[in-house]
Formats: sequence, structure tokens, C-alpha cells
Amino acid sequence: MEGSCDKSDKCPRRSWLVRVLVGMNLVAIGSLLYPITRFLRPRRGTRHGTLNVVAPFRVDQLRPDADGEWPAPFEFAGKPCVLVRTSDGEIKAFNAICTHTDCTVKCRPEEGDIFCSCHGGVYDLNGQNVSGPPPRPLEAYKVILRGKPGREEIIVSRT
Ligand code: FES
Repeated sequence: MEGSCDKSDKCPRRSWLVRVLVGMNLVAIGSLLYPITRFLRPRRGTRHGTLNVVAPFRVDQLRPDADGEWPAPFEFAGKPCVLVRTSDGEIKAFNAICTHTDCTVKCRPEEGDIFCSCHGGVYDLNGQNVSGPPPRPLEAYKVILRGKPGREEIIVSRT
């Protein structure tokens, strides 16, 4: 019969269907294995456990530049990290991703806060959300100072 094929014939329609089914099975297996693989072998910097990163500036460099701009966030654990200095001189580190919709925040030393320009979210220098839409505080990291007083390296740590 024209248009049909038995087992002995080569049947392009059937072999095409088999390829599609094999491809769909491979995609399904891949979508199951990917999260398991990511769990067992997370990306660098996102593993559970301690992670220490030396900030790209020292304590004496943590001040506004000639234009009044605070040092920009640097990468920590694959995310931007903002350093702030409180009125007591304490240095703190936070995940610089706003808890509202993931914009990057920046420190405003003149206002004494951390600001998100996307929707006007404001955090205090302890990372607490104080006004605007952010629903939660910023994630805080541990800060370790190492070296000569006044010129210490700033080590940001997450455990
Ligand atoms: S993303 Fe920061 S206030 Fe909306």
C-alpha cells in the first residue's frame, strides 16, 4: 500500500518520529540531571562553607572619591558586594543586590544610607530596609581586617 511501510522497509516518517522521541527523552533526562549536578557541584563561590575574598581596596581607600562617589561594589561569591563605613568607623559588607527586584544598591556616605535607585529603596548602614519597596534587609557578610592599622586589607567572609 502506498504511503505505509512495514518493518522491513525503510520508513522515513517512522525514523523521524523515533529521533524526535529519543531527543525528547534526552531533554527530559538532562532536565532531571542538571539540578542534581548543580547541587552536587555548585558554581564557584556558591558552595556551602566558608568563602573569603580580599576587597579590591584597603581601609584607607574606603572613602568618597573626588566626585563624591563611594567605591563601587565588587564581586563576592558571584554577586556584587558593597562595603560601608558606619559613623563609628566600623566597616560592614553586604550583598549589594536589592531585596526588591534585584537592582544593585550603592552607598551614599553623605546621606548615611545605602540606596537603590531603581525604585528609591533605602537601607541604613546596618543593611536594614528603612523606606521604599525593599521587603527585607540586605544579606550581611562578615568583615575581617588584616594588616597595618589604618591601611588594613578588608577581607569579606561568608560562612
Ligand atoms: S529594586 Fe531596589 S527598590 Fe526596587
